[in-house]
Amino acid sequence: MKEINKVTVLGIGVLGSQIAYQTAYCDFDVVAYDIGEEALRLAKERVVNLAATYKEQVKGASIDKTDAALKRITYQMDLGLAVAQVDLVIEAVPEKIELKQDIYSRIGKLAPAKAIFATNTSTLLPSDLMGYTGRPDRFLALHFANQIWIRNTAEVMGTGKTDPKVYRTVVEFASAIGMVPIELKKEHPKYLLNSLLSPWLENALELVVDGVAEPETVDKTWRIATGAPMGPFQILDIVGLRTVYNIAAAGNDRQQRQARFLKKNYIDKGKLGPESGQGFYSYTSMK
Ligand SMILES: NC(=O)c1ccc[n+]([C@@H]2O[C@H](COP(=O)([O-])OP(=O)(O)OC[C@H]3O[C@@H](n4cnc5c(N)ncnc54)[C@H](O)[C@@H]3O)[C@@H](O)[C@H]2O)c1
Repeated sequence: MKEINKVTVLGIGVLGSQIAYQTAYCDFDVVAYDIGEEALRLAKERVVNLAATYKEQVKGASIDKTDAALKRITYQMDLGLAVAQVDLVIEAVPEKIELKQDIYSRIGKLAPAKAIFATNTSTLLPSDLMGYTGRPDRFLALHFANQIWIRNTAEVMGTGKTDPKVYRTVVEFASAIGMVPIELKKEHPKYLLNSLLSPWLENALELVVDGVAEPETVDKTWRIATGAPMGPFQILDIVGLRTVYNIAAAGNDRQQRQARFLKKNYIDKGKLGPESGQGFYSYTSMK
């Protein structure tokens, strides 16, 4: 792509690692930024695991291709160096508004003026963050779904201030990295996907928090009665329980009660989803 060659991903957790790897897999040079040595060690581990997953699950993913993608990623814990020569920054730091505002205030000063910033936030509006970027016209949301190598939607949502040319560039970039761009005509909380998904997941959690049924029973009901391949707790595990918890903890009273339940029964016990080997389900063979 003419406008975008170098991409920096901020926060190499569940989603950031996928975005970084998918982007590198599609021939872009990627800088992967995270906050310290331990975070970067975990980041590399996630990315290397993704290369193995692509070999298994992505058609045509030869060892040469997956290894070449690994080589296109460089790791960085100096924010200034991470964004020094970047064309596009994709931010995937934890879903905490003050954390995101802080990182935009910093990269707004550190990145070149031409750089476009895109947030992968799931629950905030880009207009909650644009005032911190120093470039509201070059800022928008680019929201990926988890397991982007198979669930390849990329929702593109600008604010009233996003330059339409920047919007088009990001739509083209999404296609260039193998995503199906989903264009939203206006800002909308939770985009298209999560407007549908979140109430469903929240209602499922409520059934378990209330002691009405076990997660497996809820999932089984959904799968058999609708023909869907997965139930809500299988999806919550894939999202990652740390992110599920962060979102619930920032929500209304009902969600905060769910957050307390998740903390006590899962987070504090290190049950975070597939990456820790255990969430609502066990993934011991993946560890
Ligand atoms: N998990 C999902 O299914 C999913 C799907 C779509 C969008 N998202 C969004 O992506 C973002 C990240 O979610 P996640 O699930 O990958 O979270 P995560 O907790 O797995 O990863 C966050 C990463 O950010 C790093 N980090 C923490 N503080 C940082 C800072 N100050 N600067 C830079 N990096 C920092 C952490 O070390 C970690 O590697 C959130 O906005 C979330 O809403 C998540």
